[in-house]
Amino acid sequence: MNKDSGGRVTRDGIRIYDPVDFAGMHRAGELAAQILDEVADHVFVGQTTGAIDDYIRNRVNDAGATSATIGYKGYQHASCISVNHVVCHGIPGDKKLKDGDILNIDVTVIVDGWFGDTSRMYVAGKLARKAERLIQVTHDSLMKGIEAVKPGNTFGDIGHAIQTYVEANRMSVVRDFCGHGLGRVFHAPPNVLHYGRAGTGAVLEEGMFFTIEPMVNLGRPETKVLADDWTAVTRDKSLSAQFEHSVGVTANGVEIFTPSPAGRFHPTYG
Ligand code: MF3
Ligand code: CO
Ligand code: CO
Repeated sequence: MNKDSGGRVTRDGIRIYDPVDFAGMHRAGELAAQILDEVADHVFVGQTTGAIDDYIRNRVNDAGATSATIGYKGYQHASCISVNHVVCHGIPGDKKLKDGDILNIDVTVIVDGWFGDTSRMYVAGKLARKAERLIQVTHDSLMKGIEAVKPGNTFGDIGHAIQTYVEANRMSVVRDFCGHGLGRVFHAPPNVLHYGRAGTGAVLEEGMFFTIEPMVNLGRPETKVLADDWTAVTRDKSLSAQFEHSVGVTANGVEIFTPSPAGRFHPTYG
């Protein structure tokens, strides 16, 4: 039997979860977010992204949880670590962080069958002004997207809120990657686009679980995937940033499953 069977699925293929399922998502989301809190102490000039990933892998195991990314489509690491112009799916390795590098660390854990998926930005050494602005706009665009989450709104409303804010700040939204439904599976319908027109797309209903994870570039939005078949970079080599939360639609609005227990979601203002 499929592990995600039973219950209701909308005509857009989106699963509707029960009120008790929110508790499972909060447990998974909390572990992922707590690990991202702890990881901040492991980001410094001279550190390798591979060492950061080792910490994450051990931490997931010590918690009695499972990494969702190890073994996923052949991926072999407990996190994706995307430095500077890497947009997403950066592979941890032995490259050392340099002063001023900005990086996204993305962790997905499985706790009692529930998936918690979250990512945020970190800096090694001194944060440059332009990078700081990019990180701030990207973070705030995610929050604007989350503010658009409530029953009766559409997925287009989420994308529209993000795109409008990013472009008003003269930055660009990546089109080639999107958020996704999740729950008892890693990636499920719908594709959650970070751009779009208000009022378009599937209608949000109580009990939907999905991620919002905008990637924002200082330059143009186009990306390309390197020969390793994972690492996505900006075509124009401009800096890129990303933040990701897993959320659930409630009767009146939204619950975030992956808030930072330590209030460290944003590297400079919490
Ligand atoms: N956590 C990523 C996401 O936000 C997916 C990473 S898949 C991997 O959807 F295989 F690259 F790890
Ligand atoms: Co995700
Ligand atoms: Co993720």
